[in-house]
Formats: sequence, C-alpha cells, structure tokens
Amino acid sequence: MTEHYFSARPEAPSAPRTVRLALDDLTLEMATDSGVFSAGHVDPGTKMLLEVAPEPAVRGDILDLGCGYGPIALTLAHRRKRARVWAVDVNERALELTRRNAEAAGRGNVRACAPDEVPADVRFAAIYSNPPIKVGKAVLHGMLLRWLPRLLPGGTAQLVVQKHLGSDSLARWLNEQGFATTRLASRQGYRVLTVHSRPGDDPCTNSAAPS
Ligand SMILES: C[S@@+](CC[C@H](N)C(=O)[O-])C[C@H]1O[C@@H](n2cnc3c(N)ncnc32)[C@H](O)[C@@H]1O
Repeated sequence: MTEHYFSARPEAPSAPRTVRLALDDLTLEMATDSGVFSAGHVDPGTKMLLEVAPEPAVRGDILDLGCGYGPIALTLAHRRKRARVWAVDVNERALELTRRNAEAAGRGNVRACAPDEVPADVRFAAIYSNPPIKVGKAVLHGMLLRWLPRLLPGGTAQLVVQKHLGSDSLARWLNEQGFATTRLASRQGYRVLTVHSRPGDDPCTNSAAPS
C-alpha cells in the first residue's frame, strides 16, 4: 500500500537528510526524513507563504497546522520570539523532526504536538498552514472546521494551496462556512488565501487569553 506523508507512523526506513530554507530575514538548515512531506526540499508553496503572508501578532498563540518537519513553525518562532508557536501534526516522525529542528535553531517557543495535545482553551492570534489537501475534501474540511473557530476575533489564517488542487473551490467553501476569505497572492500555480475569523465563534471559553 502506498504510504502517505500524513501516516501517523511512517514505515518507510529512515533516510535522514538536510534541507535549507533561505528567506530575506533568515536561513534555516532543517533535518528531514523519508515519510514526511517534501523531505528533499522546502516546498515552493511553503516558501511563498513565508514570503508573502503578513507577520503574526507579536505575542500570544500562533498555530502552524500540519507542521511537517517545521519550516513554517520555525520561521514564525524566529519572527515572533515572544509568541508561542504550536506546531501540530498527525505524523509522529514529522513532529520529532520539528522538535529537533526547533532545538537546533534555539527556538524554545515552539511546541510540537499532536492535535489532541493542544489544550482546549488555547485561542490563536493567527494560523498558518500548507494544508494536507491530499487527505481528501471531507477530512480537510473537518480539520479546518476544528481549528478556524479557535481564531481570536480579528485573527486570520493564511493558507497556501495549489490552484490545481482546488484553491478556488476551497475559498468558496470557506466563504460559505462564514469565514470571509480573500486571495492574498497568486504565483506559479499557488494561491495564498487569507481567512478571517468568523463572527460569533466563541473567542474564549475560560478567559485563558494569551498574554
Ligand atoms: C502539505 S504538508 C505541509 C508540511 C509543512 N508545513 C511544510 O510546509 O513543509 C501537510 C501536513 O499536514 C499534516 N496533517 C495531515 N492531517 C492532519 C491533521 N488532521 N491534523 C494536523 N496535521 C495533519 C501532514 O502529516 C503533513 O505533514
């Protein structure tokens, strides 16, 4: 059976290597491995997201939804050293790589964990994601409906999606769900979508707002 990058425990034998992410404001060397998304090079969509998306809030909680080996989480944690960056994934090998990469980069403000390990009262000032389109529409929609309502009022999610993998229909669906969604950028077959928090979503169940 074909193994996907979103397997919880990839069975592919380990084949460690290093990839480099070069942005205007930082260069990162990161460990990757077989069985995780884009193990051989930083995904062009991920790089575009990090180049064009607005900077996150200075403080508070930020989510990298589907962190892989951590390029988005580590960049956000570098840009916002006083924020706490939750790097969430279902792939345990990816989470372990993110932990190692965060430690190697000295980014103690990254928390890499499985989705169920994020405390229920955490609300996000911003969400960034190169979402796993290949899980299928039903799972993807469920995942977005799980996390987008946890944006703080006025918060945004920045999603990078390939046009041929359905970025425009995803934007339509998000609008239908009440999340005002606009196209921030379009380049080389990728779109970055900005998704706004939905009016009426409960901002905080027990006043554990990030300081
Ligand atoms: C397209 S990859 C992006 C990885 C990384 N952010 C990057 O840019 O290289 C999407 C990631 O989402 C993860 N994923 C799949 N289903 C998920 C779920 N239900 N919750 C959280 N992450 C999930 C996959 O394991 C994969 O690592």
